[in-house]
Amino acid sequence: MPDPAASLSVFLETFGCQMNVLDSQLVRSQLLGLGYRFIDDWRRADVILYNTCSVREHAEQKVTSRLGWVGLHKRNKPGVVVGVIGCMAEREGEGIVRKYPQIDVLCGPGELDKLPMLIDNAVRTTSGGKVQAALQGNAHRRSSTLAAAEDELELLDLARSFSPDEHQGSAYVRITRGCNKFCTYCVVPRTRGAEVHRPPDHIVDECRHLVDSGVVEITLLGQTVNHYHYDHGAAVILGGVQQPQIGAVVSAKGIRGTSSRVTTFADLLRRIHDEVPGLQRLRFVTSFPRDFGDDILHVIRDCPRICRYLHLPVQSGSDRILKLMNRDYAVAQYTDLIDRARDILPGVLIASDLICGFPTETEDDHRMTMALMERARFKNCYVFKYSPRPGTTAHERMTDDVSEADKRRRNNELLALQSMISAEIHQQCVGRTVRVFVESISRKTRKRRNAADPSVELTWEKPEEIAQLSGRTDGDLIVMFDGDESLIGSIVDVEIDKAAPLTLFGRQTTRVCT
Ligand code: 5AD
Ligand code: SF4
Repeated sequence: MPDPAASLSVFLETFGCQMNVLDSQLVRSQLLGLGYRFIDDWRRADVILYNTCSVREHAEQKVTSRLGWVGLHKRNKPGVVVGVIGCMAEREGEGIVRKYPQIDVLCGPGELDKLPMLIDNAVRTTSGGKVQAALQGNAHRRSSTLAAAEDELELLDLARSFSPDEHQGSAYVRITRGCNKFCTYCVVPRTRGAEVHRPPDHIVDECRHLVDSGVVEITLLGQTVNHYHYDHGAAVILGGVQQPQIGAVVSAKGIRGTSSRVTTFADLLRRIHDEVPGLQRLRFVTSFPRDFGDDILHVIRDCPRICRYLHLPVQSGSDRILKLMNRDYAVAQYTDLIDRARDILPGVLIASDLICGFPTETEDDHRMTMALMERARFKNCYVFKYSPRPGTTAHERMTDDVSEADKRRRNNELLALQSMISAEIHQQCVGRTVRVFVESISRKTRKRRNAADPSVELTWEKPEEIAQLSGRTDGDLIVMFDGDESLIGSIVDVEIDKAAPLTLFGRQTTRVCT
């Protein structure tokens, strides 16, 4: 039988967080290795995949609207295979197929190693077949037997492509999967399962290979990276490969189960910094505001290539709301952490996430969040209106009792205050030279190019315009400057001459490395 993958084209669209971006990259390299081709036009694709996010309802609505279009498209092209992968597949389960029978493949984020097999089965059975599904269901990865079973998902990370075409100088590396925190509003522990920590040797090797293939900047990913904990005494080796470990239980007294030699998050950061000297920038997201020890801050202080940037979601400035959210810390502990961070790491920039309109949130609670924002002086803050998610404790046990109008107003007030603070932080950079990792051409240049008539030839009267480039400082400030596109993927010095609330503008002075 001919290989069904040969010559099949795939359209893959990603929604949501950086973890999904990485998952999509891994899916892509897995499918490319099997002979699939990737294209940008979903109408021409043989396989249409949506890598979905369930964190807020809005993210899911985008996918259901895509599914509507795809359903109509499938009437004319019934052979096309439609796959919903990621958190929405896991959260909805096979029931989603009753609403959207155009779906052929469902694959949860903890089962992506099985995706090629599912697509292959769907292609062979063509239309009208049963949905091909791989879901964790009742979260089998949460079982304590994980350490004794070969962890197939680890193979997906281990088999990633190191081709420079895939990364443009910047790459994500997963250190943990899943989450054990069970914040009452959050669907992630239910969709991504229990926290699992990858073996440090795998992580360091992956970073080394990425740098050998031209990567300049690596971002370590996990839902609560500071809880990273690998117990070498308990490590299970199967087929010569170390297996990931179920996350240690973190209690108010700290991390439990340090039987023998352990790699902590601070150890891991230092190992990557020291063992991968070609890496120019190391950053990590997301940190949990509890159990963030000075050991981590000291490693950042002592390792010049680790970025002085922390993403520390606080979610609310009210202790009462934090308690209802099951966040396990009080505002005073949060402010103590940011004070410690600023003391040990002068110049560190801190970003945060906030949810407004959580059940029972009063104007007083909201004012406390505004006060915390003023006190904390985040460099930026993502503000979300509370969105009840089925399956979470808040959805099951609390009433979504803050009106949409109040949520919107509180959201706007928080954004306006943050915008003022961000503008002040940006203004302090004017006149300084900052080091920038160049990521891409700016949205403005991209738009202008898309709007330009390609049939008009460029002449000496209309010289090819210089691109506006976009990059980030090590503290994660966005910088725009005019420059040659060959700079993308390298680090340059930029002298800042103008500041806006979200962006710095400047001109390049020197190139630091490629
Ligand atoms: N409603 C609104 N925001 C949410 N987040 C997570 N779950 C919800 C929800 N149900 C936000 C949190 C988290 C970020 C990734 O998304 O602020 O830090
Ligand atoms: Fe969700 Fe809380 Fe885990 Fe973050 S720490 S992924 S908000 S449960």
